Amino acid sequence: MNDYKLLLEQVRNIIDKDLPLVSNLSNVSAIINQLDDLNWCGFYLVEGDSLYIGPFQGDVACTIISKGKGVCGTAFEKKTTIIVDDVNKFPGHIACSSLSKSEIVVPIIKDNNVKAVLDIDAPVYNRFNKQDQFYLEQIANLLKELF
Ligand code: SME
Repeated sequence: MNDYKLLLEQVRNIIDKDLPLVSNLSNVSAIINQLDDLNWCGFYLVEGDSLYIGPFQGDVACTIISKGKGVCGTAFEKKTTIIVDDVNKFPGHIACSSLSKSEIVVPIIKDNNVKAVLDIDAPVYNRFNKQDQFYLEQIANLLKELF
């Protein structure tokens, strides 16, 4: 599936501000996991200067990532989306799974503070482009209201 408009609609319909954060993010991770060619997708949640594993779909992953470390920690520190075409070429990339070849990390920012990052890994190189970034940032924008 690669219909981002449908995906956005599903996210809009499923999120419910009256539910716990973990409930909302769990279902959203399952919705995002419908996209083609992924091997991992999920959230890392900010606590102080670290990211802690949150709801996700995929294999067991790293539990804590410090600000500035790996792709996730860099997106956290720089408050910007990062697309990595080839994880082997990203200095400091944290390899949670040997399957992952490319990756996108989108920070969820509220009031200029990063609350979480959305991390998506693919088992193929060059999986993510500007269109993925555009729609995933829209999803992040919807999710910021949950924090
Ligand atoms: N590759 C990430 C770590 C998280 S896993 O991909 C799930 C990184 O470099 O931050």
